[in-house]
Amino acid sequence: MGVPKGVALVTGAGRRIGAAIAIALSEQGMRVAVHYRSSQSEAVKVVRKIERRGGVACAIQGDITQVADCERIVNETIRTFGRLDLLVNNAAVFFKTPLATVTEAQWDHTVNTNLKGSFFCARAAAKVMRKGQIINIADWSGLRPYRDYLPYCISKAGVIALTKGLARTLAPHIAVNAIAPGPVLLPKDFNEEEKTEIVRHTPLRRLGSPSDVVEAVRFLAEGTSFMTGAVIIIDGGRLVS
Ligand SMILES: NC(=O)c1ccc[n+]([C@@H]2O[C@H](COP(=O)([O-])OP(=O)(O)OC[C@H]3O[C@@H](n4cnc5c(N)ncnc54)[C@H](OP(=O)(O)O)[C@@H]3O)[C@@H](O)[C@H]2O)c1
Repeated sequence: MGVPKGVALVTGAGRRIGAAIAIALSEQGMRVAVHYRSSQSEAVKVVRKIERRGGVACAIQGDITQVADCERIVNETIRTFGRLDLLVNNAAVFFKTPLATVTEAQWDHTVNTNLKGSFFCARAAAKVMRKGQIINIADWSGLRPYRDYLPYCISKAGVIALTKGLARTLAPHIAVNAIAPGPVLLPKDFNEEEKTEIVRHTPLRRLGSPSDVVEAVRFLAEGTSFMTGAVIIIDGGRLVS
């Protein structure tokens, strides 16, 4: 496999894991559309960082819970760069929703962002990609749900089903794979005690890092072209613990 050329669109790429993926894809020679919803200044910083390193990128705003926005984000990528070769569905929300108190609005917000958003971004991308790949960022908890986060875990189980269904539907021209990370960057409201507890339940005895996810993206982008419908689990062993 050579260095991938072409254009990547990474959703939710203004911050955290998405930003790391966007920068890594640029380092692999791709032009990158850095999508954001509210983190405009962070997204612009990612674009500037890519440009300083000699890459090409643009920032595109949109709310992926809106189907029209999913289509506009993809169309703006095409208007800017003329093609799309790789979509990384990374944008998501994650917050505590105990069964007894979860609201309909919380359910809708979670499922509409993580699952519906990924579905309609993928559909819009598939319409314009002649040949390429979609990578969905799922979560190991889509395979073994956390208590107190059911809408999130169910949405990520849906992302895994979406990956397999799209892989069948879009073959042979578009490969569709998922990455299922374990704990990588904890939300700000997790305290030290919770972090220690998570590490204690992780066989490899550490949290993952964005670069662990990035390495899986790199592998899918340039390491193989004979993989579709697969889920790469990067969870420090949580699934077997
Ligand atoms: N962090 C972890 O440890 C971990 C573990 C397992 C799986 N994952 C998965 O890995 C991916 C990245 O994780 P992360 O923690 O870096 O994500 P994150 O910070 O929680 O969210 C990433 C981005 O999603 C965007 N987003 C949220 N709602 C949106 C909407 N309606 N429309 C458009 N964009 C929206 C936000 O963009 P703005 O900031 O611009 O609003 C946000 O910056 C996610 O899919 C997550 O579920 C993460």
